[in-house]
Amino acid sequence: MAKPLSHILSFLTALILLLSSSISAQSRSNIPVGNSLSAIINGSSWLSPSGDFAFGFHQYLKHTNLFLLAIWYAKIPDTIVWYANEGNPVPQGSSVTITTNEGLILSDPQGSNLWNTSSDLNGNVVSYGFMSDTGNFILTSSSHSKPVWQSFEHPTDTLLPTQLMNIEGTVDSRLSETNFTKGRFQLRLQQDGNAVLNVMDRTIYWPDAQPYFASDTWIPPNQGKQLIYNVSGHMYIVAEDGTILYNFIPDKTIVVSTRDYYQRVTLNFYGVLTWYYHPKKFTQNNGVGWSKMYSTTGNICSVGCGFNSLCSYDDVAQSVGCDCPPNYSLIDPTDKYGSCKPDFQLLEDDGKDGIFVEYNLVPLQNTKFDKCDKRFLGVTEEQCKSSCLGDRFCAVVTWVRDTCCKYKPLFSCGYHDSNVRETAWLKVGNGTYSTVHSPS
Ligand SMILES: *[C@@H]1O[C@H](CO)[C@@H](O)[C@H](O)[C@H]1NC(C)=O
Ligand SMILES: *[C@@H]1O[C@H](CO)[C@@H](O)[C@H](O)[C@H]1NC(C)=O
Ligand SMILES: *[C@@H]1O[C@H](CO)[C@@H](O)[C@H](O)[C@H]1NC(C)=O
Ligand SMILES: *[C@@H]1O[C@H](CO)[C@@H](O)[C@H](O)[C@H]1NC(C)=O
Ligand SMILES: *[C@@H]1O[C@H](CO)[C@@H](O)[C@H](O)[C@H]1NC(C)=O
Ligand SMILES: *[C@@H]1O[C@H](CO)[C@@H](O)[C@H](O)[C@H]1NC(C)=O
Repeated sequence: MAKPLSHILSFLTALILLLSSSISAQSRSNIPVGNSLSAIINGSSWLSPSGDFAFGFHQYLKHTNLFLLAIWYAKIPDTIVWYANEGNPVPQGSSVTITTNEGLILSDPQGSNLWNTSSDLNGNVVSYGFMSDTGNFILTSSSHSKPVWQSFEHPTDTLLPTQLMNIEGTVDSRLSETNFTKGRFQLRLQQDGNAVLNVMDRTIYWPDAQPYFASDTWIPPNQGKQLIYNVSGHMYIVAEDGTILYNFIPDKTIVVSTRDYYQRVTLNFYGVLTWYYHPKKFTQNNGVGWSKMYSTTGNICSVGCGFNSLCSYDDVAQSVGCDCPPNYSLIDPTDKYGSCKPDFQLLEDDGKDGIFVEYNLVPLQNTKFDKCDKRFLGVTEEQCKSSCLGDRFCAVVTWVRDTCCKYKPLFSCGYHDSNVRETAWLKVGNGTYSTVHSPS
């Protein structure tokens, strides 16, 4: 009895294997050249075999007739992992087509070209498109050949497990939560093998900014050659010979399994590189969202906020906060990461008009500043503070163990944290204007 049963079982197993392999082969649905998608509400998209990822037009914001050509998690609302056209949404009625010579062509409703992949094809021709289960959209020249174009080689603000980045590869933050055009921050694997986080908006923000994070993997003979986000969710820099030179995630951090959790790393619009995870099994209405596993912040508070502002880093939320100091307010009230300006007259107290502004110093507890402009040794706290009150180029002053530091207006890098033991003093106009300069 046992023998025939085991025969039947192995026959059944073979049958199941055969069926499932033919199902997966079938569902590796190569999309032939000539196929297209339209930007319409509830329009169709090209799904990966597992149904985890979708490629197509994602409504830009609810209640708009704008769409982003994008890749997103098909089972999770509103998590876009890649976008075309430099992050610019396109109007309803636009379309994307797979073509032989240009690869993907994004056209407006009148049929004019908005974006295409032709310059990346190096003369290769395209026969098929394919949305893979790793979240990589691939163009190939025959059904089983190597990609001639893939979204993984043109990352936007997010990397996914199995994605690699070669020398000069970049990831750019968005401008804001809802604007996908390039923002202020960039992750780059430099020519010298160093992986760095930089602030890009140099003209407006930090003229001589150093990277606010560096992997320090540039030292010969062990320069970094590649950034790898491996299939188990670890991200590291490897040398030519494959040696791991730098692990982004410290050993003590538990990396959840990529079998049970979706994972991604995104350079947030506020400049923090964050590893996220989301359970694969969940019900739509139990409120699960993305959780943060780890963040690389580097010295984000040296560049994360505008001028005249105070930066804080919230360890629990793993996010950056920017606040104007007392008696200062945002220049652009809608940009809370922007610069602040004093609500009182500063700098104009040079007595030219015979008008002098009286100031007070208000304490900024648990706050320190980088890059002192004028430093004096061996002065008392009182001497230090009154020196600032009498100096029109002093906006903030600190005194730590005999060392007095003055910071000029448009000060940067105010860092506020309960672990900082220092108190800084902010010069604030006290509302009194006089025509006689009171000696300080
Ligand atoms: C799109 O689908 C949603 C959910 O199924 C539905 O509520 C909505 O009415 C649809 N909108 C259009 C324009 O078809
Ligand atoms: C593809 O884009 C390039 C560069 O933007 C443009 O010059 C070319 O005309 C486009 N191709 C088509 C078929 O529109
Ligand atoms: C995103 O910001 C850029 C730069 O300010 C702007 O030109 C563009 O119109 C914005 N995009 C959207 C969809 O608002
Ligand atoms: C991914 O990287 C981690 C850390 O280096 C390593 O322990 C793990 O074995 C790697 N996973 C695979 C599948 O190579
Ligand atoms: C402002 O400071 C001046 C000089 O110290 C002082 O005379 C005046 O009373 C102050 N005004 C207020 C409103 O505190
Ligand atoms: C500074 O802020 C305080 C508290 O908001 C306010 O009472 C005071 O008038 C402000 N001073 C100036 C000079 O704006």
